[in-house]
Amino acid sequence: MRRDTGRAAVLTGLGGYVPETVVSNREISSLLDTSDEWIFSRTGIRERRVADADTSTGDLAVRAGARALEAAGGGGVDLIVLATTTPDYPCPATAPWVADALGLGPIPAYDVAAVCSGFVYALGIASAHIMSGQFERVLVIGADKFSSILDPSDRTTMPIFGDGAGAAVLEAGSIGSPGALLAVDLGSDGGNRRLISVPSGGSRRSPATSSRYFTMDGKATYKQAIAHMTGSSRQVIARAGWTVEDVDWVVGHQANIRILQGVADEMSISRDKLVSNIDVVGNTSAASIPLAMCHGAVDAFGSGDLLVLTAFGGGLTWGSIALTWPKMAASYLSHTNREVA
Ligand code: UT7
Repeated sequence: MRRDTGRAAVLTGLGGYVPETVVSNREISSLLDTSDEWIFSRTGIRERRVADADTSTGDLAVRAGARALEAAGGGGVDLIVLATTTPDYPCPATAPWVADALGLGPIPAYDVAAVCSGFVYALGIASAHIMSGQFERVLVIGADKFSSILDPSDRTTMPIFGDGAGAAVLEAGSIGSPGALLAVDLGSDGGNRRLISVPSGGSRRSPATSSRYFTMDGKATYKQAIAHMTGSSRQVIARAGWTVEDVDWVVGHQANIRILQGVADEMSISRDKLVSNIDVVGNTSAASIPLAMCHGAVDAFGSGDLLVLTAFGGGLTWGSIALTWPKMAASYLSHTNREVA
């Protein structure tokens, strides 16, 4: 039996930020051999946000992080864990600069590389740090400027990805508090790393011999995504002591609305329990889950609701988290950067 008084990491603040520039399917179709109809019917995406040349992943992360801290009542944190595939530089990590820009002092800050599973990985790691007693308050950020690694001539990736950032504050609390993270599941399969990759720019291949752009085998990835998100969600539901029927909301990585529907169908969960704003943000990689959470916080979730977060991405990587929804002010939460009363 679960004790309701044990230590747990508790969600106390959430923030999202997307660049102001909207790029519609029609605009993409004017540049590539695709159409609004194809993109929307195959992915559920109508438009995405794209950052300008002067705005980096770190800049997006700072804005989302500031909102999450404000939603959590202000104050500092002991640690930043930042998930990204598009760091400001190959070296150093982006998180220390984000800590500095947010005025958080000389705290530890590091990046996590798990592509589209990055935010769930970072949340799981931050939860473990808090459970161990090492840290009391952690800022977790998922931020990506995917437009910086997309091949502008590739119609299989350009219509899908967008830029954005989302952040959450986790604090030490008790397992019975609304907002408590109750179970974490993380996994990987490096044997399938070629399905999603940037072939050059690391230590294995130079940009002179391989593409520096992001590549994805969409069809193979699609099947893997449904299988792993389903399996991992089942793990955390069982570990939290819930049944599938108990789950109020599923917040899945927003790769494709058909993948999210496939996960819900596979688990016999009503599609009405899916929370997504993929239509207006596209696939924002590490920012995807916190941006969907921002959307759900405004439009759907109530205090005490039972949520499953589930993600899948390059690596391959996947992960899920079971949590209860906290009491949280609705302001600072909108994914469209608008205050919500
Ligand atoms: O976020 C990390 C994890 N990522 C994912 O989980 C992504 C998973 N994959 C997907 O979401 C989907 O596979 C895609 C959205 C990438 C592609 O959708 P699909 O339904 O799997 O399409 P497909 O690749 O099977 O292509 C179907 C057809 C092909 O034509 P033929 O061979 O049937 O004649 C493609 O050439 O659609 C064609 N096609 C396009 N047509 C218009 C591919 N891309 C486009 C396009 N516009 N942009």
